Amino acid sequence: MRHIPLALTYDDVLIIPKRSTLFSRSEAITKTRLTKKVNLNIPIVSSNMDTVSESEMAIAMARLGGISIIHRFMTIEENAEEIKRVKRAQNFIVPDPYTIDVNKTVGEAKRFIAAHGVSGLLVTSGDRRLRGILSKRDFVFVKDDNQFVEQVMTPREKLIVGGRNTNFVEAKEKMMMYKIEKLPLVDENDFIIGLITADDIKNLTEYPLANIDSSGRLIVGGSVGVHGDYLERAQELVKAGADVLVVDIAHGHSEMMFNALKNLRDKCGDAQVIAGNVATADGARELCEAGVDAIKVGVGPGTICITRLVTGCGVPQLTAVMEAADMAKKYGVPVIADGGIQKSGDIVKALGAGADSVMLGGLLAGTKESPGVIMSRGDKKYKVCRGSASFAVAQRRQAVQQENKNLSEVVPEGVESVVPYKGPVADLVGQLVGGLKSGMSYTNSHTIAELQNNTDFVQITSAGSRESGAHDLIDVK
Ligand code: XMP
Repeated sequence: MRHIPLALTYDDVLIIPKRSTLFSRSEAITKTRLTKKVNLNIPIVSSNMDTVSESEMAIAMARLGGISIIHRFMTIEENAEEIKRVKRAQNFIVPDPYTIDVNKTVGEAKRFIAAHGVSGLLVTSGDRRLRGILSKRDFVFVKDDNQFVEQVMTPREKLIVGGRNTNFVEAKEKMMMYKIEKLPLVDENDFIIGLITADDIKNLTEYPLANIDSSGRLIVGGSVGVHGDYLERAQELVKAGADVLVVDIAHGHSEMMFNALKNLRDKCGDAQVIAGNVATADGARELCEAGVDAIKVGVGPGTICITRLVTGCGVPQLTAVMEAADMAKKYGVPVIADGGIQKSGDIVKALGAGADSVMLGGLLAGTKESPGVIMSRGDKKYKVCRGSASFAVAQRRQAVQQENKNLSEVVPEGVESVVPYKGPVADLVGQLVGGLKSGMSYTNSHTIAELQNNTDFVQITSAGSRESGAHDLIDVK
């Protein structure tokens, strides 16, 4: 008879507490690796589902120390614009600030400012030499929109500027000393080489855990499939500034994936590429050998997944993560545990099983920053949450990407439902990270690497599982 091994998921186990040397959970450091080259300050990634990750979620997640992978169920142009929106949300230095010519009118300037969502413009004349600044306060009381910018701007001789070597601290000091909100940077010939804004400095101070790139821009990922427009999409996403690319298909341990990875390497050079999903050591090994920069693990554990019901395939998530992570470790490739995380304890278990970060879908759907409208029924509020392989998303792909697919042949592996409205994602992530840090303290782990090494699990019974939640209380409605 064939041997059938046992595989477990998060609810099947608990972590054995250990003597702890942490005096407070604030000593637990949540910094981790997303890919070989990209780090995160908290190990949380928002899923590339169309009810979870667009630019609003991505800006919030990166500021909190995580990252979002923006979904791909939109045109390539829209997809690139979503990435650019995140990259423009904050900067250390704006390398190519918007400018306006001295001879344009105030009306033209107002329209430009409104269209680009900025609070002011640097003024030039025919070249990139700085002639002044036009801020809203310069024209707020100007009645005649036909006046020229030159007549109302703050001229060059009154401006405080920085140079090539102006750093964050110096810029902040100048802004405080002169009570200014914009510091243009110019070279020896007064040509504009950048701009530092007070908003950007405020953001850098307000979000100390924010994950930023070398220019101070928030980091963000984009996702692609393995056929159709995926190569063109990948190139446009990288051009728009995506820090990582996720090649995301339901069965990532497949020939189609390996072909796509080869093509992506040819076209996108050294982009950081995350591939998945797999659920086995073999799958992890082959992706590592194909040269990926991180692996996404999980076949069927997600909130909205019905892959296991439809196909009979999958591996309970704790075992899948353990086996894939043990293998990936040999190659130095980070692992993302994707799906099935319902509570902070599951994050501790996923990382304890060897993952470097977790990807969340259903848990983040329903937050203020997730795409979609809030629906009210009685006194309750909801938002939609749906699987990427649901019928609703197949319809969206058909409409947006003009896929030539007969919808009656679609076999959905995901469902569409609603989740309670949860308010700002920062509150939820705060609770998750708090729980993670407590879990690190119970296991005597100062770092995620220690958590990966220190975790010993016990398998529990249904009685142990019942005992683990609040129980034997009166439910007062
Ligand atoms: P959670 O549990 O966080 O899981 O909601 C999110 C992950 O689920 C995967 N996903 C799907 N899996 N059918 C599936 O079998 C689907 O339609 C589907 N949509 C998303 C995906 O890996 C996501 O990150």
